[in-house]
Amino acid sequence: MGVEVVGEELGSLHGIPLFKTFIEVWPQVEAFQAQPDDLLVSTYPKSGTTWLSEILDIIYQDGSVEKCQRDAIYNRVPFLEYKEPGMPSGVELLEKTPSPRLVTTHLPVQLLPKSFCDKNCKVIYMARNPKDVVVSYYYFYQMAKTHPDPGTLAEFLETFMAGKVAYGSWYEHVQGWWEKKQEKQLLYLFYEDMKKDPWQEVQKILRFLGKEMAEEMVERILHHTSFQEMKKNPSANYNSVPTALMDHSISPFLRKGIIGDWKNHFTVAQNERFNQHYQKHMMGSDLHFQMEA
Ligand code: A3P
Repeated sequence: MGVEVVGEELGSLHGIPLFKTFIEVWPQVEAFQAQPDDLLVSTYPKSGTTWLSEILDIIYQDGSVEKCQRDAIYNRVPFLEYKEPGMPSGVELLEKTPSPRLVTTHLPVQLLPKSFCDKNCKVIYMARNPKDVVVSYYYFYQMAKTHPDPGTLAEFLETFMAGKVAYGSWYEHVQGWWEKKQEKQLLYLFYEDMKKDPWQEVQKILRFLGKEMAEEMVERILHHTSFQEMKKNPSANYNSVPTALMDHSISPFLRKGIIGDWKNHFTVAQNERFNQHYQKHMMGSDLHFQMEA
């Protein structure tokens, strides 16, 4: 019989809504000692973290699908600020991970542990359009049991727009990391570009990492990291997480993997309201998102 996990209300970390278990281990995370060859994968939740992590791991494994099956994605590419009772924390996992390490985080830029800057670590940020993020997040809130009850989609849209979901405002997140690009070795990618032309985006990643790869190897990487392949890959699809924590019968982790699913969910009025809110909060920014395929 499994233990039932009931989503608690979120706590607040320096004004950012976050899981209380993550806040408890924050001193450990803040003091994290990065290494110069760590590569940080940074995203707002539901923006393609797992996809980008799988792409990077197979690049690091020189295209070997077998080596990528050595463990589940969340162990191969540890999640820096993660903590659940009875599980090793992200920091504990990272301490056991051999270099060069891949590290994921959803932290907004102002909360990034100082050591990543001190050691001048490379960062790849992936952003996704907010309409698809909010829909994906709505399903994730329901299937990943540590989240509070999201209510109806209409209610969740309001919570999201108000920045009251886990990790706070999407607007501040994508813009904060975009500005960081001025001063850091940071490659800023978009989920929509990766969907439309994965070949080109993987080339950008390879250039950023200073790696070269034969064309057939790149083809293999694209095949291995396609939505269909990842969905059936037990080391990438999160099926190994206990049902008490993630219930895939409510919604699979790899759910649809498309651009524009928001159109199947937003009413006309919700879309208009969202557009107004978006325009207000993105005013003056040179960041642009593709809401459609
Ligand atoms: P959907 O819920 O819209 O399907 P994250 O890893 O940051 O939590 O993001 C999860 C989202 O990325 C989910 O979106 C998931 O389906 C999508 N995703 C994961 N792997 C993908 C892939 N190989 N191709 C396209 N989308 C992918």
